[in-house]
Amino acid sequence: MSTPIVEIRHLKQHAGETVTLRGWVRNVRTSKMRFIELRDGSGFVQCVVSANDAEPESYELAGRLTQEAAITATGIVQTHPKTGAPELLVKSLTLVGESVDYPITPKEHGTAFLMENRHLWLRSKRQWAILRIRHTLVKAIRDFFDEDGFTLLDSPILTPSACEGTSTLFGTPYFDEGMAFLSQSGQLYQEPGLAAFGKTYCFGPTFRAEKSKTRRHLTEFWMVEPEMAFAHLEDVMVLGERLTKFMVQRVLEGRQEELKILERDLAPLEQALNVTFARMTYTDAVEKLKELGSDINWGEDFGNDDETILMNAMDRPLWVHRFPKAFKAFYMEPDPIDPKLALGADLLAPEGYGEVIGGGERASSLQYLLDQIEHEQLDRKDYEWYLDVRKYGSVPHAGFGLGLERAVAWICKLPHVRETAPYPRMLGTLKP
Ligand code: 4AD
Ligand code: MG
Repeated sequence: MSTPIVEIRHLKQHAGETVTLRGWVRNVRTSKMRFIELRDGSGFVQCVVSANDAEPESYELAGRLTQEAAITATGIVQTHPKTGAPELLVKSLTLVGESVDYPITPKEHGTAFLMENRHLWLRSKRQWAILRIRHTLVKAIRDFFDEDGFTLLDSPILTPSACEGTSTLFGTPYFDEGMAFLSQSGQLYQEPGLAAFGKTYCFGPTFRAEKSKTRRHLTEFWMVEPEMAFAHLEDVMVLGERLTKFMVQRVLEGRQEELKILERDLAPLEQALNVTFARMTYTDAVEKLKELGSDINWGEDFGNDDETILMNAMDRPLWVHRFPKAFKAFYMEPDPIDPKLALGADLLAPEGYGEVIGGGERASSLQYLLDQIEHEQLDRKDYEWYLDVRKYGSVPHAGFGLGLERAVAWICKLPHVRETAPYPRMLGTLKP
């Protein structure tokens, strides 16, 4: 007689019924009774195997199961008397795939070892929790923009030119046309789309040949980039704040089990939902950093340490705006009040996390952009198509990029961005 196959996440609804589970053995404790911790990707459950209730050969099999063996388990769903969690009182077990000498044991392992075994490390509870939260954030981002009237406009990955400076480009030969570069940002392709769709976004992988090892930098990361016509710096900060709150809200609502596995303190996330984000000009932020002991000077970009110092001192996300034009990208609109400044804004996450969003208002004057392109020694002919946006119905416009992995790192409170991607790419990491 066949019993219904059930996913662990639905087990509660089957209390008292006989069901079959399919999954992998996380752990077995063997005494007279045998306790199998089973996971199937949808959740975790304890399977109880006793000599009285289980078939003799299943009881015997339970005694020799190893970590990560794949099995099916059939039995009655009952409720744990103390925790109230469902568990399976096993009648029969079958071995689907054996697992001999699984390398990641319950003891502590070094990160280098775990990274080399990333394809197996994905099975651990903590990685499961992080990547499910990542999934929820991706869905939240898409829902947010789709519901807000933005049209998805995919930017290309192979591009002829730089968006964020030429020092972090990955190149690849492109037939007879010379080099193509992996996209650093889809922004330049969103801007022409505005005159067609009004509000657009792209969401995909972006690449930077970051030569430094930090806990914030990947060489391949996902970025969502909204762009809005007839919009200014203020609109960037309003939209970015709404998006961030929406993302946090979705995780708090839908990923309680995962946050618990990560032992995430929920108070700072709830705080982010309930407050208006702080704002500070770059100039004020530099003053504040000096007070906090940084040796930064006006005109310098924040280092990782500066962001950490600043955001350890804040109890909520912070917008820093109006940066020195000198270290910002060529496309930024200058501040009409002080042309040394660019109308850019970065959102820094609290708890020491730092930049999660970078964006701002785009230069709408053709002549200004031409001067910038010359000043940055970019090749004008690579940007003619982009300049057309300023020739035919140029309007004020603005947008930003939110780095998915940075958002995951903060929301999960991870010490390093490497655990936020299924297969992270960093300096010195191209395996597996
Ligand atoms: O501040 P960035 O460089 O801005 C841009 O690329 C703009 N063109 C975006 C736009 O306005 N459409 O990058 C945006 C965000 C950062 O705030 C950060 O979250 C993330 O992308 N980011 C990285 N994440 C991981 N690893 C890296 N190396 C990253 N570089 C940027
Ligand atoms: Mg930035």
